Amino acid sequence: MSVNERLGGLQLTEINHPDIKRILVLPDREMAANEAAGMIVGTVGDNPVAVISYATGETMIPVYAAVSRMTMERGVSFTTTTAFHLDEYYPADPRRDDFSFVRYLRDRVFGPFGIATAFELDGMATDPVAEASRYDQLLQGYTVDLEILGVGPGGHVGFNERGTLFNQRTAYVELGEETIRRDRIERNQGTPAYALTQGIANILEARQILLVAYGERKGKWLREALCGPIDSVCPASALRLVGDRVTMVIDQEAAEVLQQGRE
Ligand code: GLP
Repeated sequence: MSVNERLGGLQLTEINHPDIKRILVLPDREMAANEAAGMIVGTVGDNPVAVISYATGETMIPVYAAVSRMTMERGVSFTTTTAFHLDEYYPADPRRDDFSFVRYLRDRVFGPFGIATAFELDGMATDPVAEASRYDQLLQGYTVDLEILGVGPGGHVGFNERGTLFNQRTAYVELGEETIRRDRIERNQGTPAYALTQGIANILEARQILLVAYGERKGKWLREALCGPIDSVCPASALRLVGDRVTMVIDQEAAEVLQQGRE
């Protein structure tokens, strides 16, 4: 990898990587979130019927807040877009559970963006395996124009934990120890040990993929994904298989750690 200083006025640098099309580095989280939001709004500006798959998590909170602001400033409407999402805990009741990703998305994305067609993973389905397969069938009826991703413990994408095969489709999965520790101990949430998640195969099918990450810890996971082998041990490394469709927007803190692995 090498670094290209460019557009000094915009405080944006770019890391060159042999597989990934663009890795943009912004000085801080807020600027990274704004950059990512600009790409999401730009996608809808170019294509008002875009199909977008939304990730959740702390990373995306400032991104979606910025999208809400920009849609008003730029007069871009998300009404005719179609929304999917990446994952949901199981069981999770959006009416009751603070940790529910569907609840998060209704509050921060589907409602504020005014999206009329949003397909939700049902964390209350009686048969989670059947629910995963229903969602996979739905996804197969569409081409996702923009897949928004974060990265989590051990380099997981969605809830595809370490060891997930790259041909995995939407599934009912057991969460890894590191994820459970993050959620229950670091974040003090009463989250379950299972989840529904789009598989890596679903993610790789998208026309464009936008991954957002901030901070040292995520830089470390990205370093493994980008500088180590492309292997199911690190799920995010799968993105290199379709790297010409991948944009990463990261902050300086993540970039510094990522570049410690640079050749
Ligand atoms: C979570 C979710 C992902 C999310 C990622 C990062 O566990 N499964 O959908 O993108 O990990 O989350 P956060 O932004 O809260 O760090």
